[in-house]
Amino acid sequence: MSVETTGTLSLQLSPEHEDIRRAVRDFARKEIIPVAAHFDETGDFPSAIVKKMGEMGLMGIEIPEEYGGAGMDTVAYALAMEEIAKADAATSTIMSVNNSLVNHALYKFGSEEQKQKYLVPIASGEKIGAYSLTEPMSGSDAGNMKSRAVLSADGKHYVINGRKSWVTSGPVADIIILFTMTEPDKRHNGISAFIIDTHQPGFSPGKKEPKLGIRASATSELVFDDYQCPVENMLGQAGQGFKIAMTVLDAGRIGIAAQALGIAEAAYEASLEYARSREAFGSPIGTFQMIQAKIADMKTRIEASRLLIYSAALAKQKSKVSGARYTTEASMAKLFASETAMFCAHAAVQIHGGMGYSKELPIERFFRDAKITEIYEGTSEIQRLVIARNELGLR
Ligand code: CAA
Repeated sequence: MSVETTGTLSLQLSPEHEDIRRAVRDFARKEIIPVAAHFDETGDFPSAIVKKMGEMGLMGIEIPEEYGGAGMDTVAYALAMEEIAKADAATSTIMSVNNSLVNHALYKFGSEEQKQKYLVPIASGEKIGAYSLTEPMSGSDAGNMKSRAVLSADGKHYVINGRKSWVTSGPVADIIILFTMTEPDKRHNGISAFIIDTHQPGFSPGKKEPKLGIRASATSELVFDDYQCPVENMLGQAGQGFKIAMTVLDAGRIGIAAQALGIAEAAYEASLEYARSREAFGSPIGTFQMIQAKIADMKTRIEASRLLIYSAALAKQKSKVSGARYTTEASMAKLFASETAMFCAHAAVQIHGGMGYSKELPIERFFRDAKITEIYEGTSEIQRLVIARNELGLR
């Protein structure tokens, strides 16, 4: 991506970015849009689609090729997320957790051995990953967790007990990045991160959540009952878990922002088409000023979201060299884009009237799917708190 300043500021995608966008858009139109309503209705996990996405490199977009990824940059990731989400938000949720949470955690904090063993199969799409921070009694207050990992007497493994909740891909994941307490007295500094192999005894996915939207992305509780995690599966250092969780969430929030943009665009494009073709009082409804106001506000918020997302993606890309944090950029992009998705989905239902409320069109699905973007990976309230604290220099 380059920035051209020729009177008006315009962001121009590179030919490589245009290529990935086109390839993902074609794939989504052909493979995802025709079945999105079916998977939303059944709540089944779209395994065959996820497998094809892995073959296209979409499950490890930013990971270097030697670790099973596609070796592209953060802008490419944001573009791909937007295109998949525009077709089906649930499928983009699965992609987002694999890419920005699991891959990112393993690539940035994993040892060479951990990368070879766990990152390669996740980034290549051969296996599915999940990220587990939330517990039944701690969501926004992520540092306050009840689950525990205790080092065994022989020092060879940690024994993990407790319940986690709201884990995307929890029921289908092969590998989970788990955050749990190793030294409860130290609060944030007592949390450690572990790589969990879900095929070992002591682990089971608990209740699958029946959800309002993104229904094809499987979400569940996790139950750890004397699960024995080898010490070599600790990710990073003991006590570093909270910072790993937060660092990775900064990346995750850019992915959710791009997902929200995709939902907003889908709602907007359907509305534009409907405003042109639907007639009332002898004219297309798009000739009425109250519809025009909605169209204008949707378009403006979408383009503003896009700029915030590209800016956050560029900041993340730069941080791969500088190591600088891009927390504020990621939170601003997620906050604005998720509220834009909700705004656009709401307006789209209103513009479509009764048909917006009907399951015959995907508009009501956009409305249900948009809501989660204001909740997961940090609610809008948490994004505002993060932005303001950073601006004010507070903690
Ligand atoms: N990057 C690196 N370090 C960070 C950080 C970041 N973005 N944010 C905080 N830290 C560090 C701080 O610098 C601090 O370190 P020191 O002690 O060395 O100074 C430490 O972490 C503690 O920070 P705070 O005192 O700010 O912690 P807090 O308890 O006040 O919490 C919070 C801050 C922003 C509210 C945080 O808890 C938060 O983001 N909560 C929301 C959690 C969230 O997004 N949950 C969603 C989970 S995933 C999900 O949705 C499901 C899924 O499957 C996708």
